[in-house]
Amino acid sequence: MTLPSVRKAIFPAAGLGTRFLPVTKAQPKEMLPLVDKPTIQYGVEEAIASGIEQVIMVTGGGKRAIVDHFDRSLELEHYLEERGRGDLLHILGEVDDLSNRLLITYVQQKEPRGLGHAVWTARLLVEGEPCAVLLADDVILSAARPALKQLIDAHGKTGATVLAVRRVPRSEVSRYGIIATRGSKGGIHEVTDIVEKPPADDAPSDLAALGRYVLLPGVFDELDRGEPGAGNEIQLVDAIKRTIGRQPVVGVEFEGDYYDTGTVPGYLRANLMLAMKREGLREDLIPLLRELLEASPEPR
Ligand code: UTP
Repeated sequence: MTLPSVRKAIFPAAGLGTRFLPVTKAQPKEMLPLVDKPTIQYGVEEAIASGIEQVIMVTGGGKRAIVDHFDRSLELEHYLEERGRGDLLHILGEVDDLSNRLLITYVQQKEPRGLGHAVWTARLLVEGEPCAVLLADDVILSAARPALKQLIDAHGKTGATVLAVRRVPRSEVSRYGIIATRGSKGGIHEVTDIVEKPPADDAPSDLAALGRYVLLPGVFDELDRGEPGAGNEIQLVDAIKRTIGRQPVVGVEFEGDYYDTGTVPGYLRANLMLAMKREGLREDLIPLLRELLEASPEPR
């Protein structure tokens, strides 16, 4: 049997970003920079490197900056040329190149009714096909195979809905959706249940589901029911969970450096880590960090 390849990826980006207020009052969380690139661009680069041909961005009010970021800015190009800063044009060219290599479409989620609802909003553009979902908050950098490609390959092998999973310390399981598994082979776990935010002593494993998915069309049938879950929001995990038993669901322990940029501490950590890996910044950062540690400024 040849499985249809995964060609489309949904980027839900219509959330309110409340954990980052006030910066997200008039600016999408997905546009917050990691060093000098918005988090969503890391995701789009990963999608392209994984063979995705069409990206569907789910946006809401106040998300214009995402559309503008992936559009060409003739005005800025002109301005840079006029000011003799043509040396910077290649940076704009790199972003432009991303959108030339993909078809990017935008759909509006009129109200932030949850991640499941955001994904459902894109249903007419992915009808009948398995599709990927990437959460821009979860940045995964992999020198070898991109994380999404690892999921797509697992989908190719199993024909399953695929979740990206990672082992987390037992003390942290209550922050994640944790999978229960039956068996595993080569880092691919057969999923029998997904438990949202379990207490540490009640968690079925230490494998946490993170922001990458490959969904079988059956997940959309479940989303069609529009059943609200935790926080009265329509949860993607609930819909996936309801397909277990009728359709295969697996978790893939992906390889790569994972950064959770969805919380302020995680975001700051990711910025520091990536800056430390950047030649030209690292040299400035090391003495600065030493100075900070020595001065150990008190909170105000
Ligand atoms: P999050 O829960 O991390 O994002 O959703 P949020 O709701 O914007 O942030 P907080 O919790 O208020 O700080 C994960 C992803 O799903 C999108 C978000 O934009 C984010 O990229 N999302 C979430 C939607 O597109 N629509 C929703 O209704 C909820």
